[in-house]
Amino acid sequence: QFSKAEIDAAVQLLLKLKVDYKQMTGQDYKAGCPPSENLIVSNNGPAADDCDGEDLVDPWNVSASSTKGVDYDKLIVRFGSSKIDKELLERIEKVSGQRAHHFLRRGIFFSHRDMHQILDAYEKHKSFYLYTGRGPSSEAMHVGHLIPFIFTKWLQDVFDIPLVVQMTDDEKYLWKDLTLEECHRFTVENAKDIIACGFDVNKTFIFSDLDYMGASPQFYRNVVKVQKHVTFNQVKGIFGFTDSDCIGKISFPAIQAAPSFSSSFPQIFGGKKDVPCLIPCAIDQDPYFRMTRDVAPRIGLLKPALLHSTFFPALQGAQTKMSASDPNSSIFLTDTPKQIKNKINKHAFSGGKDTVEEHRKYGGNTEVDVSFLYLTFFLEDDEKLEKIKEDYTSGALLTGELKKILIETLQPMIAQHQERRKQVTDEMVQQFMTPRPLNYKF
Ligand code: TYM
Repeated sequence: QFSKAEIDAAVQLLLKLKVDYKQMTGQDYKAGCPPSENLIVSNNGPAADDCDGEDLVDPWNVSASSTKGVDYDKLIVRFGSSKIDKELLERIEKVSGQRAHHFLRRGIFFSHRDMHQILDAYEKHKSFYLYTGRGPSSEAMHVGHLIPFIFTKWLQDVFDIPLVVQMTDDEKYLWKDLTLEECHRFTVENAKDIIACGFDVNKTFIFSDLDYMGASPQFYRNVVKVQKHVTFNQVKGIFGFTDSDCIGKISFPAIQAAPSFSSSFPQIFGGKKDVPCLIPCAIDQDPYFRMTRDVAPRIGLLKPALLHSTFFPALQGAQTKMSASDPNSSIFLTDTPKQIKNKINKHAFSGGKDTVEEHRKYGGNTEVDVSFLYLTFFLEDDEKLEKIKEDYTSGALLTGELKKILIETLQPMIAQHQERRKQVTDEMVQQFMTPRPLNYKF
């Protein structure tokens, strides 16, 4: 009998060996198929497939060396997180009593830290809370930003637990050419989009750093504790800060760390220090939480657990993520049906062949086709998605037809979001953003 830790370590080693194998041979590892001599690529030889360099993933940049996008298995090894495997999926279903969300079933949420511990505690009737966030850099959020919020809403519903949402208007002031007033206004505007995802006001606290930092002594105490236990050298290593970065940036990671500790919210947790925290986010935010998990035991607090998602790709292809700073790469939550149609038809990278004849003969490649990738996020019907994959791969379905399916999926989805957002009043935003007790049982 092996312990869970031993099995986890063996899986990590296996994944690492697979990555090494791929780096050395340029081929995916297959059991019982040793590489032939002529497949071996020397270290400085021609780059093979997607092995021509490390993918870059941090809170500010995402770029992959392969057209298939970021190699997420490799990232798990590099970041030292764990894969969400079949066993964990089954446990989530068992403990929540619900079929896993399609983001989990399809590997969109693919990596975690300590999720088993959260489930162990929950099974013993010990509750946990959710923490996620948004950096309000502009008025309009894009479809990629919805991914963690849609998933967080599902988690809140199935586990019946409280949620805190940090709006890092301070972060955007420090990093962007924006005034404090603009950043704070974007917080309120973005909060409306977040509320429109359907969160329960009795279980959700949304806060602006600019407001809450000054209003909550317990929150600020946790920020200072983190600041005392992380050196400049450490944040330089994690975030790549340089001597010419302003000191606000250098100390900011402590502010993103603080909501991971239940004692930062005495109005919700009554001063309890030991309510476990689970953070759903895309994997670009992981550096903040590697730092948080490292410092937590040294300040006598619990390490937060995490669930990481892959990136919703840019229209131009999976090599980078959808990003608000490049309007052509993104479908915004404010886009009209016509804009959605035009952007997809004009910019969505196609895995189809150049001519109809060739496409019918050889079929398209769903692994790089952005329209297909988008459907894996938003078309909930598994059978329909599988049929589209078969038909596109065989050549029966053309790129134009695939794009039409995507357009007809996104247009109503975004229109409904806009309709729900219209219903969100300033008073509702005020309610969500007022520090207060939340409704839930421990
Ligand atoms: P921000 O505003 O860059 O992103 C908000 C959330 O959206 C995720 N995200 C994406 N997910 C899928 N596909 C994409 N293309 C994509 N782009 C962004 C991000 O991972 C994030 O979860 N510093 C943070 C704000 C923050 C935060 C947190 C985020 C504060 N505390 C705790 C997550 C968890 C930021 O600027 O996020």
